Amino acid sequence: MAKPTLVITRRLYDQVRASLASVFDIIADNQATDQPWDAATMQRHVAQADYLFCTVADKIDAAVIAAAPRLKLIATGAVGYNNIDVAACKARGILITNTPDVLTQTTADFGFALMMTTARRISESERYARAGQWAGWAFDQFTGRDLHHATLGIIGMGRIGGAIARRAMGFDMRVLYHNRNRSQEAVEATWVEKEQLLRESDFVMLVVPYSPATHHLIGAAELALMKPTATLINIARGGVVDDQALIAALKDKRIAAAGLDVFENEPKFDPTFLQFENVVITPHIASSSKATRGAMMQLAADNLLAHAAGLPLKTPVA
Ligand code: DGY
Repeated sequence: MAKPTLVITRRLYDQVRASLASVFDIIADNQATDQPWDAATMQRHVAQADYLFCTVADKIDAAVIAAAPRLKLIATGAVGYNNIDVAACKARGILITNTPDVLTQTTADFGFALMMTTARRISESERYARAGQWAGWAFDQFTGRDLHHATLGIIGMGRIGGAIARRAMGFDMRVLYHNRNRSQEAVEATWVEKEQLLRESDFVMLVVPYSPATHHLIGAAELALMKPTATLINIARGGVVDDQALIAALKDKRIAAAGLDVFENEPKFDPTFLQFENVVITPHIASSSKATRGAMMQLAADNLLAHAAGLPLKTPVA
């Protein structure tokens, strides 16, 4: 019997790809370059697909779905799936799986690391040392902001938000959170309205999924509520923050700093961000430890293998 066809959009670890190769005929012509396909190439490939293994960086819109008449299942190697047109999939009966849980701790580690890096001016001081500018010690050299005993406001208290709150407890931080619902993940964190969180937090950490409801959740009005000494950390999605409003707030020194792992229009984010020494910029790597990226790939692969074997999906989203 002919194997089903699986289209893989980006390079996978060898062992993960090997786990798929015995079951599927694989179309993956960019394994050497690991560059995303343009829309026409994506549509040409999915035209033959029974299954699709995609990533957060692939736009799986209605045109892609329409170009894929045989498609049964999209397994994305990410927890967020805002890049996939869920309604178009539902209308066609195409299933979607994502990769929750396996990246929770790694992403929380990174959120904390980005907050510390931004607060303690680590990137900025490293640039200075590497540039050979370090002439000697001084009391007021790269004075940053303390995390310990500061107030952390987490917007989005799901699994990752909860893991960040638990880390913050170890730093004696006061933790506020805002979520649509009071959360089981919140340990000793206190639910407050978003406005109170923004007014009282020294660090505001964004961990919400992107959707029309969270588009520009942080814009000019919200930034205006934050303390001038406060720091914004975004490990959620580009689009949750209105980047132009953030740039304006940074220019006017209405907040102290920002740590940004995600951007509107990434990877081509607004270059104005590069002008700010008090902005730490990372390229959407919050889940990127070697082990966790492997676990994400393998969970996506396991979903594909389960479906092909007629078994229940491990982590269906819709
Ligand atoms: C996710 O899993 O949604 C991450 O953003 C992928 O990098």
